[in-house]
Amino acid sequence: MFGFFIFAQMEEKKLKILTVVGARPQIIKAAAISRAIKSSFFGKISEKILHTGQHYDANMSEVFFSELGIPAPDFNLNVGSGTHGSQTALMISGIEKVLIAEKPDLLILFGDTNSTLAGAVAASKLHVPVAHIEAGLRSFNKAMPEEINRIMCDHASTWLFVPTIAGLTNLKREGFDDSRIAEKKVNIDNPGVYHTGDVMYDNSLFFSDVADEKAPLSGILRKVFEEGYKKLSAADRAGEWHLKKGEYILATIHRDNNTDNAERLNSIFRALSDIAEGVTVVVPLHPRTEKMLEKILEPMLYERVVRLRDRIDSGDFLSGALSDNPGILLLPPASFFEMISLEKGARMVITDSGGVQKEAFFFNKPCLILRRETEWVEIVECGAARLVDADYDSIIDGYSDFLNKRVIYPEIFGDGRAAEKILGIICGTDFSK
Ligand code: UD1
Repeated sequence: MFGFFIFAQMEEKKLKILTVVGARPQIIKAAAISRAIKSSFFGKISEKILHTGQHYDANMSEVFFSELGIPAPDFNLNVGSGTHGSQTALMISGIEKVLIAEKPDLLILFGDTNSTLAGAVAASKLHVPVAHIEAGLRSFNKAMPEEINRIMCDHASTWLFVPTIAGLTNLKREGFDDSRIAEKKVNIDNPGVYHTGDVMYDNSLFFSDVADEKAPLSGILRKVFEEGYKKLSAADRAGEWHLKKGEYILATIHRDNNTDNAERLNSIFRALSDIAEGVTVVVPLHPRTEKMLEKILEPMLYERVVRLRDRIDSGDFLSGALSDNPGILLLPPASFFEMISLEKGARMVITDSGGVQKEAFFFNKPCLILRRETEWVEIVECGAARLVDADYDSIIDGYSDFLNKRVIYPEIFGDGRAAEKILGIICGTDFSK
């Protein structure tokens, strides 16, 4: 019913794609696909975007649409936060309704969030073919909700677009066959597996210069003074403070097994606070982390973590370079351009995010990963990143080892044209049933 044979019908019928996004990294990945449709597949593909509403705060969602020039979503399910089961159930039901009404030729899903899983379940039950972008990644830790999501999505897909060689190896181990590429006839029982590179790398290359212009480091601090901590009236004094390239560390923490576990969160912030005795540690906060800081950090540690923010709030800070006033600089969630700018200027990145560890690699920054394992194994193997878990000693040792680390950054994530390759493959395959 939903099959589409593009070869013969390209002239008569546009390929109708429905793209599902929900969490902020998916909006970023969708930008690469929407851009490639506009630039290279105009007139051949029509795209509608469905937002599940998994991320809903303006600085977790809207800002990415406006900054990256993605059309506003055609559908928004507004599911919001909830337990995994109830959140995913609402999404499945909402996506199903849109699929029935819209009858797209295929559904595009990104990554491994609950929105990805919901899309895979809804589409496969209705026999709508699924294209999974960022397929094949495995942490081999099924306690992570993302591991279950990505395995289920891969096994419900017709096209599996794999960013790395490690991802390809994982899929072969699970019985997928990448030799089917030559056959050009694919479906859910005989899926196509393609190594295409990473759409996030496409975006980082594409937006790197734009980010310098639109979100310079000085502007990021200005935002803190003007919007983040409103009590400070003399916003222009922000000009007296500088985040200097190479003189700060960037850290992000958002995974529930770090934020919701008192021992782990205390250990991470104890290490960051000690590092921040000598250098500014910039921490854009995910709303979940923000909520948990006061709740589960030990009181004295909490005081240290928010000290700089409190000083800014009360107007009691010294002028001059931030490097003269080290500490943890808590920021509101960063936009994509701000994040790129912060990553490019950082001396080192410390993170539990899959996307941020990759972006650190794209911009040649050493990275400490606050997890036991990573799906991006190549960046650890080549020495650009190290797994330090939430262990105080490993974080401190990793920090001093990596301060002057020299790494040769190999090509792991493709050539910056993954989105065009993906769309070319979809258009060139027969997926009629
Ligand atoms: C989700 C993904 C994770 C991805 C991350 C990217 C799942 C299981 N996890 O994690 O793989 O790395 O997105 O950011 O899908 N919240 C807000 N405002 C928002 C969104 C969330 O306040 O706009 C708070 C809520 O308290 C919510 C919590 O953050 O309960 C967690 O949000 P959720 O979407 O469940 O998971 P993430 O940690 O963001």
